[in-house]
Amino acid sequence: PLVTTKEMFQKAYNGGYAIGAFNVNNMEIVQGITEAAKEVNAPLILQVSKGARAYANHTYLMKLVEAAVIETGLPICLHLDHGDSFELCKSCIDGGFTSVMIDASSKPFAENIEITKKVVEYAHDHGVVVEAELGTLAGVEDEVKVSAEDSSYTRPEEVEEFVTKTGCDSLAIAIGTSHGAYKFKPGTKPQLRFDILEEVSKRLPGFPIVLHGSSSVPQEYVKMINENGGNMPGAIGVPEDQLRQAARMAVCKINIDSDLRLAMTGTIRKFFAEHPDKFDPREYLKPARANIKEMVKHKLIDVLGCDGK
Ligand code: G3H
Ligand code: 13P
Ligand code: ZN
Ligand code: NA
Repeated sequence: PLVTTKEMFQKAYNGGYAIGAFNVNNMEIVQGITEAAKEVNAPLILQVSKGARAYANHTYLMKLVEAAVIETGLPICLHLDHGDSFELCKSCIDGGFTSVMIDASSKPFAENIEITKKVVEYAHDHGVVVEAELGTLAGVEDEVKVSAEDSSYTRPEEVEEFVTKTGCDSLAIAIGTSHGAYKFKPGTKPQLRFDILEEVSKRLPGFPIVLHGSSSVPQEYVKMINENGGNMPGAIGVPEDQLRQAARMAVCKINIDSDLRLAMTGTIRKFFAEHPDKFDPREYLKPARANIKEMVKHKLIDVLGCDGK
């Protein structure tokens, strides 16, 4: 069935692991992820961004995910990723999503509370859970002064007031990750701020924390892209060891999108380079889907620890 994250997060929190939240945009991505989760019997979050919804349309994505539920028999949560307005969240709630994120993290604290609270009230009335965000996911690659850098991280002293006043069900925090394939400056040592995560979880005992920007940017796929006509120099992600550490802590949801894109793009680039005569989309989408599946299996088993849960 389509489920909320309530039970998933409680079990993950107590079990010291995290649920994978993977972005979906088309059938092959949905199939690759859900076939992996089925094989290793993992609970799963599939998430749809505003851009994904604009690309594929709500109904197509909804029906693809419903098909995955039927085919796998797994409990799957269908989540709106980075909702930027009450209206978008409402539309997804009315349209059958079981979870929404309202991301008002770029707004002033009071305004973030206000809009998040409004989404929570509507969502909870409809049996839907809400993820909110405090702090901004700035790139560590920027040369910023310590004070400016600190200001983009989540401020632990704000989290209790935020969660109490909004009633949100989970909280995304900024501890040094960023979206996309260029997360850290090449040559520097990537390091997430686990001290901030620790401080947040002390203030919110038992409360599920979410980590965005958690692709590890597998160098195998960066290489495959670069060797087959692509150009992605210096693409670097979060080391998997740090994701493992976050999963053992209060982090219950780990967001991955870029790694799916890299696996799909690398595989297709390689296929095209090796078979310039082929033009049947099934021939290149099939290995792309297979590689997404293998990558997701690796994440579920070796990084998140949610297999068999
Ligand atoms: O957080 C962003 C996700 O990777 C979705 O990206 O807005 O390009 O669909 P998108
Ligand atoms: P990545 O770009 O690291 O995959 O992050 C995805 C994400 O946070 C989606 O909300
Ligand atoms: Zn995100
Ligand atoms: Na955890």
